[in-house]
Amino acid sequence: MKILVTGGAGYIGSHTVVELLETDYEVVVIDNLSNSSEEPLRRVEQITGKSVDFIQGNILDGELLDQIFSQDKIDSVIHFAGLKAVGESVQIPLKYYENNISGTVVLCEAMARNGVKNIVFSSSATVYGDPHAVPITENFPTSATNPYGRSKLFIEEILRDIYVSDNDWNIALLRYFNPVGAHKSGRIGEDPNGIPNNLMPFISQVAVGKLPLLSVFGDDYDTHDGTGVRDYIHVVDLSQGHLKAVERLQDNPGIVTYNLGTGKGYSVLEMVEAFKNISGKDVPYKIVERRPGDIASCYADPSYAAKELGWKAERGIDEMMEDAWRWQSQNPQGY
Ligand code: NAD
Ligand code: UD1
Repeated sequence: MKILVTGGAGYIGSHTVVELLETDYEVVVIDNLSNSSEEPLRRVEQITGKSVDFIQGNILDGELLDQIFSQDKIDSVIHFAGLKAVGESVQIPLKYYENNISGTVVLCEAMARNGVKNIVFSSSATVYGDPHAVPITENFPTSATNPYGRSKLFIEEILRDIYVSDNDWNIALLRYFNPVGAHKSGRIGEDPNGIPNNLMPFISQVAVGKLPLLSVFGDDYDTHDGTGVRDYIHVVDLSQGHLKAVERLQDNPGIVTYNLGTGKGYSVLEMVEAFKNISGKDVPYKIVERRPGDIASCYADPSYAAKELGWKAERGIDEMMEDAWRWQSQNPQGY
């Protein structure tokens, strides 16, 4: 089977390409390298000993997509390509709507023209907004508080409309919780541009000496130690969830939605402690104001994915920390 992976040079995409190649899928990657480079794919080839068919291009380019679909018999698309920085999305919303929403529309049009109707989409737990309770099940109400989150919500709706208009489509909406960690080899991992927005790369960059101090955004939340609680999931577990979703599409399920999380919540301070224990490095921090838009607690009920996909996150917090640290310490400047 051949899979087109959009955004396959990125963090989650590159890890998923490893899992696909190691499971003997053929893979074509399209990525415009707006938030990545070719280096992760070179390393994916070293890890797997297999070659990656890479096309540098934009998913907004319908003609290029037609060429790809006509040259290769693609069975399913895994669609990671998108912009993902929440703060930036507030500054330049149209860029986010064009890239994420129009990009998905152009991709789906090309898929329809070429008779490829299986797609796995990278959605996010951000579509649950500020959840009324935890753990979160897939039928919780959805909402968005920023253009990035809104782009994910709109795309979910667009994909639902596509399915209503044509039941031949098979669509998996995967709502990721907080991906962290890296491949065991230490060769590929998360390499954010500039100062990281997210907790895990911030902690590891403090540990490696690139950043002086972690700011903990608030210690007065209604959580056991007052700091924010999230469902951190190892990126390799997350990637393996995509292979299960691709398999599920073969059963003609129609449109399906799954939480990909572990079901366990860890606070910011627990993450710092766990990282220190594993790495032996100090992570100095100070408590600062809450970050606007942050919520207290967010973790998944992953039982629906377990039941329907036969998928469950296997890697615990220590393995997430070990693998994140191996990547960061072996690649202090990223790729
Ligand atoms: P990433 O930025 O590392 O990867 C995205 C890739 O898409 C990049 O390589 C980028 O160059 C490419 N890309 C962006 N726009 C493109 C376009 N128009 N055409 C072709 N390529 C394009 O991000 P990631 O963390 O790997 O996230 C992958 C997907 O998962 C994104 O859609 C993101 O919104 C979603 N997601 C990520 C997280 C997270 O915390 N990392 C959480 C929930 C959902
Ligand atoms: C972020 C995104 C969200 C996305 C999710 C998964 C924002 C506002 N939201 O949310 O849209 O779906 O990632 O990738 O960016 N923290 C600190 N100090 C830091 C960084 C974070 O204390 O320097 C805290 C946060 O307040 C939060 C926790 O760490 O409690 C996790 O933060 P982060 O990694 O940014 O993830 P989310 O807040 O879940």
